[in-house]
Amino acid sequence: MSLIEIKNLEVHYPIRSGFWNRVTDSVKAVDGISFNIEAGETYGLVGESGSGKSTTGKSVVGLEKVTSGSIMYQGKDITKKKNREALDYNHDVQMIFQDSLSSLNPRKRIEDIIAEPLRNFEHLSKDEEKLRVLQLLDIVGLDADALYKYPHQFSGGQRQRIGVARAVATNPKLIIADEPVSALDLSVQAQVLNFMKKIQREFGISYLFISHDLGVVRHMCNNIAIMNRGRLVEIGTRDDIYNHPIHIYTKRLLAAIPETNVNSRAEHRASRLAVEEIYQKQQDKYYDKDGLAYPLVPISPTHSVALPQDVAQEIIKQEGEVQA
Ligand SMILES: Nc1ncnc2c1ncn2[C@@H]1O[C@H](COP(=O)(O)OP(=O)(O)OP(=O)(O)O)[C@@H](O)[C@H]1O
Ligand SMILES: [Mg+2]
Repeated sequence: MSLIEIKNLEVHYPIRSGFWNRVTDSVKAVDGISFNIEAGETYGLVGESGSGKSTTGKSVVGLEKVTSGSIMYQGKDITKKKNREALDYNHDVQMIFQDSLSSLNPRKRIEDIIAEPLRNFEHLSKDEEKLRVLQLLDIVGLDADALYKYPHQFSGGQRQRIGVARAVATNPKLIIADEPVSALDLSVQAQVLNFMKKIQREFGISYLFISHDLGVVRHMCNNIAIMNRGRLVEIGTRDDIYNHPIHIYTKRLLAAIPETNVNSRAEHRASRLAVEEIYQKQQDKYYDKDGLAYPLVPISPTHSVALPQDVAQEIIKQEGEVQA
C-alpha cells in the first residue's frame, strides 16, 4: 500500500459574477488527477504557473475543500474531516509554503513559530519544548540566537529553513514542499535542498515536492508527475521523464531548463525553438477539442502519458527511428 493514494481528485473554485454575485462558472484548478506517493520517496509535481500544483498540495494537507475524488491514507479517505481527525492526520502531514514571508506570522518570534505544531500536538514541558526547538534550529543550520528574532530579520533562505524546521517539528510522515526554493538564488537553493535531503534520510520522511522547474526536481525526485491546466500530462520515474519524455508539454518544460554548458548553448537554443514550434502548431495532436489533456495511458509499468494510445505509439516509434 502506498503512503498516499490520490484518485480522480477534482478541486473547482466558483466564479461569481453579476449584480446578485451568483456562481456562474467554475475554475477547474484540479481536474481529475491520480497518483500515489510511496513511503520515504520524494514525489515531484511539476507544471507552469496556474497549473494547479498548490491547490493539489493544499488538498493533500487538508487545507482545501475537495470537489470530488479521494485521497487515501492508511485506508481512510482524508478529504473527510472526521477521517483526518481519527487518524491524527494533521500531525503526520505538514506543509512548507511557497511564500515564506507571508506564511510565517510576522508578529511571532521564531521560538513560537517553530513551537506552534509542538504545542498543538505534543504536551512538552517548557524546558523540553525549548530543547526541541533548539535541536530543530540546529538541524536546519541556524544559531540559537534566532529564537528571539522575528521573520523579517532573516533572509529568504533562512526563512525557508525556518519553514523546514517548523514542518519537521512533529516528526511527520509526509511534507508537502510547495516551491520551497523558488524564491532563492542558486547557491542558497542548493543549501536548502541539501538540508531537506539530510532530514529525509534521518527521519524517513516522504516529500511531495512542488516546482515549476524540472531542473530543481531532477536532483530531488524519484517519481514525477507533470501537471498542465489541472490535469496530468505525463507521469514516470526520473529516467522516464528526463530521458524518454513523450508529451510535448513535458519536452517544453525540459527545454526551459537553462543550459549551463557554454559550448552547447546554440544547440540547446535550436532544440528549444523546435519544441516550441511543435507545441504551437500541433495543439490538436496533444490536446482534445477543448484544449485539455487526454486521459493518461500506460506505456510501461512506470510511465504513462496523456495521449490516445495510437498517437503515443506513433511518437515512440518516431523517436526510436531518430535515435537509430
Ligand atoms: N482561492 C481561489 N479562488 C479562485 N481561483 C483560484 C483560487 N486559488 C487558485 N485559483 C485558480 O486555480 C488555478 C490553479 O492555481 P494554483 O495556485 O493551484 O496554481 P499553481 O500551479 O500553484 O501556480 P503557481 O506556480 O503560480 O504557484 C489558477 O487558475 C488560479 O487562478
Ligand atoms: Mg503555487
